Amino acid sequence: PLTDVDKNHVKSIWSKASGKAEELGAQALARMLEAFPNTKTYFSHYSDLSVKSAQVHVHGKKIFDALTDAVSHIDDITGAMSALSTKHANTLKVDPANFKILSHTILVVLALYFPADFTPEVHLACDKFLAAVSYALAEKYR
Ligand code: HEM
Repeated sequence: PLTDVDKNHVKSIWSKASGKAEELGAQALARMLEAFPNTKTYFSHYSDLSVKSAQVHVHGKKIFDALTDAVSHIDDITGAMSALSTKHANTLKVDPANFKILSHTILVVLALYFPADFTPEVHLACDKFLAAVSYALAEKYR
């Protein structure tokens, strides 16, 4: 579980990340699609999957805004992600194994953009937070 120290680390780095939601979200999403090409199957309706794509920018911002919402409800991530879980499970039918992959590219992007903030302790806290979000997103699958 996230300790109070973890929560403060997440809130601190996210206060910087949330202001760059579109840029960082697009970077994380495009990196997932390029480094883990099997994830492209879910986005076959996009005309451009590169980091320059307007669709990737719009969707990257949505992902980071959803994470900002999870940070604001860090003591009830399951509740905050409930509707999104239903959508990913029933409508989008995304294999929840992919949540770990996107979590990884989000961590990479945080490290690239905020190298001074991304200490091992912040790395741990963000990894635990993204695992909690992934767990919450997988909640409605069964
Ligand atoms: C849609 C967040 C992981 C595939 C969405 C939406 C949000 C979101 C906020 C928009 C929902 C709406 O319009 O009501 C997240 C978060 C994730 C995550 C926070 C994990 C940290 C994934 C993964 C995949 C995926 C791993 C597939 C590899 C999709 C697709 C859509 C979608 C295909 C619809 C996009 C479109 O048609 O433009 N997601 N998502 N998501 N998500 Fe996720």
